[in-house]
Amino acid sequence: MSDALKQLFTLRAEARLGGGEERIEKLHAKGRMTARERIDTLLDPGSFEEFDMFKTHRCHEFSMEKKIFPGDGVVTGYGTIDGRLVYVFAQDPTVLGGSLSETIAEKICKVMDLAIKNGAPVIGLNDSGGARIQEGIESLAGYSDIFLRNVMASGVVPQISAVFGPCAGGAVYSPALTDFIAMVKTNSYMFLTGPKVVKSVTHEDVTVEELGGAAMHSSISGVSDYAAESGADCVAYVKKLLSFLPQNNVETPPVVPTRDTADRRAEELNAIIPESPTEAYDMKEVILATIDNREFFEIKKDFAPNLIIGFAHYDGRSVGIVANQPMHLSGVLDIDSSVKGARFVRFCDCFNIPVITFVDVPGFLPGTTQERGGVIRNGAKMLYAYAEATIPKITVITRKAYGGAYCVMSSKHLRGDINYAWPGAEIAVMGAKGAVGVLYGREAQKQDDPAAFLANKEAEYQEAVANPYVAARRGYVDDIIEPARTRFRIVKALGMLENKRDSNPMKKHGNIPL
Ligand code: HXC
Repeated sequence: MSDALKQLFTLRAEARLGGGEERIEKLHAKGRMTARERIDTLLDPGSFEEFDMFKTHRCHEFSMEKKIFPGDGVVTGYGTIDGRLVYVFAQDPTVLGGSLSETIAEKICKVMDLAIKNGAPVIGLNDSGGARIQEGIESLAGYSDIFLRNVMASGVVPQISAVFGPCAGGAVYSPALTDFIAMVKTNSYMFLTGPKVVKSVTHEDVTVEELGGAAMHSSISGVSDYAAESGADCVAYVKKLLSFLPQNNVETPPVVPTRDTADRRAEELNAIIPESPTEAYDMKEVILATIDNREFFEIKKDFAPNLIIGFAHYDGRSVGIVANQPMHLSGVLDIDSSVKGARFVRFCDCFNIPVITFVDVPGFLPGTTQERGGVIRNGAKMLYAYAEATIPKITVITRKAYGGAYCVMSSKHLRGDINYAWPGAEIAVMGAKGAVGVLYGREAQKQDDPAAFLANKEAEYQEAVANPYVAARRGYVDDIIEPARTRFRIVKALGMLENKRDSNPMKKHGNIPL
């Protein structure tokens, strides 16, 4: 072997060790993978091509010239997942806590630029203490360069973040600009500043888990889309997610072969709606009964569970699903569910993924908490997202579609392409009880038996207004369908809409009520 070749192999081996064996052992002792192990688990075996393995930082402050690690604190390159090209970067916590140097930013920007030019997803495996303190402004500039590319890539290629360790400061804003974030339940945190700084500023005593753990971000803040059981589970989630997505905004999602027949009936749906309009049923059962092989890939499962979102296939075609969940808060729309739904619909619209909307919604959640929190502005996000979306939009009203929430949930008026209702659907300004109270409350007081009078009026209202036929007579729903045939009707509609072309007026960009 020539000396030159020996030198190459030696330098490569050195780079592969990142911050050194001791730090790798410490990482393993905590049950965490190294950056390279994370990449190896993510990509097809042997597909990884690495860039900038010998690149080092250029900082001389704080004796940093003595802390040089080849490749610095990130591993970058490209490879394939299920044979499809992806660009990837993995921050290396064994090198100065994965903190971001100017050099690391350059390495990440290189793969992001390639991803945008070549139209393939970017996957970031995050584990970083934020801006490298010794570098100061160079590090902040590097972050800004990454943020700019996150924004330029948004809506062009899917961007997915997996969080494997503590991420602080600038290290959380790049993931926040990407389309999806998955966090590992133990060891991974996201916060702007850690507990010590929180204590000094607000005098709060808080643990890292409470401040920015996966459970908190997946159920309370909604920053994370999934709380993974382990690093391997997190990687599996990212891979599965990618299988529903196209490579970029000019492609359509891959169609996968299925043995689930398009005209399969789901008899159970004919009996799923309870007798009482106030009794709940599980909308997830409706989704599972109609999609291919009952395989639903849910997003943000534990955040705002009154609205279900996720991906599935109908006869092999990838779709996004949005559905009210009567099992939680009777399926009302509120601030959190509106933001959850709006962002998901916009993602699907960016990447040519049709949206199927299942509607059973009694309205928006009333009250001072919601009003003070801006339910008007936040509910408007959902309206905006559905109205601007030009992808195929198919709606099935299973039970209630009341008031503003009727308009919002992919109604005909917001360019819903195909709108179906089940026979027991109630489409009205509000429920019978509320409506009769407003219309006849005063008159009822004058009656001998106010309760019987109101019950009678409720029955009249129900028959005259709260049914799907008023909407059907106006063409606001295209058909009233047998629940058991919902799958077939959706599959047919998706086929019919396959080549849909629609557009919005030319503009720089709209002004969604943020
Ligand atoms: C330089 C850092 C660093 C940083 C960690 N290290 N963070 N070096 N800059 N930001 C170094 C440590 O000095 C240590 O080096 C090694 O990485 C491992 O760190 P530990 O603290 O021992 O690890 P751990 O206990 O796992 O804790 C990880 C951590 C913690 C939670 C990330 O290190 C931490 O709180 N770091 C600071 C986080 C922070 O406040 N970042 C904000 C930066 S400001 P040695 O050599 O001793 O092993 C920012 C603004 C950007 O990001 C704004 C853009 C919008």
